[in-house]
Amino acid sequence: MRAPELQEEVVVLDFGGQYSQLIARRVRECGVFSELLPHHVGAEEILRREPKGVILSGGPASVYEEGAPPLAPELLDLGVPVLGICYGMQLLGRELGGRVEAAEKGEFGRSQLSVRDHGRLLAGTPDEQTCWMSHRDTVFAAPPGFAALASSTGSPVAAFESPERGVYGIQFHPEVVHTPYGQQVLTNFLRDVCRCERSWSPSSMIDEQIERIRAQVGEGRAICGLSGGVDSSVAALLVHRAIGEKLTCVFVDHGLMRKNEGEQVIGAFRDHFRVPLVAVDASERFLARLKGVSDPEEKRKRIGAEFIRVFEEEAAKLDDVKFLVQGTLYSDVIESGGGTGAATIKSHHNVGGLPEDLEFELVEPLRSLFKDEVRAVGAELGLPERLVWRQPFPGPGLAIRIVGGEATRERLEILREADAILQDEIRKAGLYRELWQSFCVLPDIRTVGVQGDARTYGNVIVIRAVTSDDAMTADWARLPYDLLEQIASRMISEIRPVGRVVLDITSKPPGTIEWE
Ligand code: XMP
Repeated sequence: MRAPELQEEVVVLDFGGQYSQLIARRVRECGVFSELLPHHVGAEEILRREPKGVILSGGPASVYEEGAPPLAPELLDLGVPVLGICYGMQLLGRELGGRVEAAEKGEFGRSQLSVRDHGRLLAGTPDEQTCWMSHRDTVFAAPPGFAALASSTGSPVAAFESPERGVYGIQFHPEVVHTPYGQQVLTNFLRDVCRCERSWSPSSMIDEQIERIRAQVGEGRAICGLSGGVDSSVAALLVHRAIGEKLTCVFVDHGLMRKNEGEQVIGAFRDHFRVPLVAVDASERFLARLKGVSDPEEKRKRIGAEFIRVFEEEAAKLDDVKFLVQGTLYSDVIESGGGTGAATIKSHHNVGGLPEDLEFELVEPLRSLFKDEVRAVGAELGLPERLVWRQPFPGPGLAIRIVGGEATRERLEILREADAILQDEIRKAGLYRELWQSFCVLPDIRTVGVQGDARTYGNVIVIRAVTSDDAMTADWARLPYDLLEQIASRMISEIRPVGRVVLDITSKPPGTIEWE
């Protein structure tokens, strides 16, 4: 995508570092629009964006390794400042005649940075500060004509710059929270070096996106599948702002949602925002398809196929729909190797993901936004807080949380009630937003108990709560004991078939977040 006229952009070139996306996000947090492009894109692709600066990310390779991603020399002739971070700095150092070698010991984790000359890059930061390092190759001498600004425990040259050449480098990672002055360093680069002046924010995208949607859809009609999640909700609202009644939303209630979830979606979209909405109660159909099925992948497949069938039936009832709205996010675009304008469909891991051969043209108004930015746009558009901050919920819903058994109406009811208690208590404790996900699992086992004077043989509810940044890794959440006690006693006293409550203390890896 091309930065609109009034938008300033800084391009981040991705050399494969684990924090590359985070660099782009941090740049945006400084109020400058940023895109992450693969390191091998040509100068033309970069220049098309008229960037105010280019940042080279870190990466896992050694600059000496055969096949290590190289620095395209023309990058230094673009006439815009370049900042290399970690591997990016080493590439610059080597290309420009500095001394970069493998150190005997790498430098990993927190390190002490001593600044001897603040230059432009480290202006306004203390002489001594901590920073986050993760490298083995090290810059031993800055290139000729460069000022070596700082050293660290393991790096003789941890930052260098040549304002004349417009080239800057830092060995540490300014984008991670463990580098307390990282945001200041990025701000110095963006404002003082690149001279970015205008301020970008996610909500500044709203008007621009509305224009784009109008230009794309014209007088046509569009359809959008709502799942209750923040991405499809915000995408639908933006498109509704742009084309009004020409958008119809379809909400397929597969009967596998959490308590009151359907009502909340219908309430917000139909009653509050007055978006034309077709709500289909398809729970009977889905339950029938799930009869006798306990294999997790089979459940997913059947739910996915049924979802598409229902959606297509509803779409066929509407005349003349040419466009399909999807809540594809920037991270989906990057992960599918896009970022250079290639069209992609978010189908990965997603029921409600529609097949590619549907004959619609895609409208994807969130393609340039990260999740937290989508939330900000949602809040700006007036989406209720519950929908803006909803934790991720899998497309196949509660069906994949009934583990080792069939998802029957009765079991779904037990799980739904348990989940409602968990959410209620977690919200009351003010922990909902801190958790990536919190939910219950109902395994197909019974255990013995006593209630009153009678022996019981009841269901087990598992509590699963995790913290995570991106679902790739996750840690089990240390919920307070008092809260756990309150949750467990409510579940046992309020849900008759529940006889025992347990807590899952497995992180990911080795466990996954979901149980199936
Ligand atoms: P796992 O269990 O693989 O989950 O650690 C990672 C994230 O993906 C969600 N998830 C799904 N989402 N359809 C979805 O739309 C699915 O089949 C599915 N399975 C897992 C999970 O909730 C977590 O956020």
